[in-house]
Amino acid sequence: MAYSEKVIDHYEHPRNVGTLDKDAQDVGTGMVGAPACGDVMRLQIKVNDEGVIEDAKFKTYGCGSAIASSSLVTEWVKGKTLDEASAITNAAIADELALPPVKIHCSILAEDAIKAAIADYRAKQDK
Ligand code: FES
Ligand code: FES
Repeated sequence: MAYSEKVIDHYEHPRNVGTLDKDAQDVGTGMVGAPACGDVMRLQIKVNDEGVIEDAKFKTYGCGSAIASSSLVTEWVKGKTLDEASAITNAAIADELALPPVKIHCSILAEDAIKAAIADYRAKQDK
């Protein structure tokens, strides 16, 4: 399996690896798994008073494409509103990273993870 240069770059220099306090009111956490391969991705966002994502962190136990997808998404969501971040599609991720068809589910994992993080954040605000 040949990885694209962008995948290798993100894989070797992943952006925003780490953890935010999942109990903080301004943090949303998305934890998703890929049934296809058992890989797990956790993506977290920190949202400011204006509803803008000011920080994002991830931890991914998975293949190079899954790590690259989550690294890319953390870069993309910073500075975006929740609605803008919700609009990120796996197709855009797969496109940017030039993922082959067999690795599309890795980008779906990243889309699911950001959506789950946003949902978690929103659920917290309703409490
Ligand atoms: Fe699990 Fe990607 S198949 S590491
Ligand atoms: Fe399963 Fe990438 S997440 S192969």
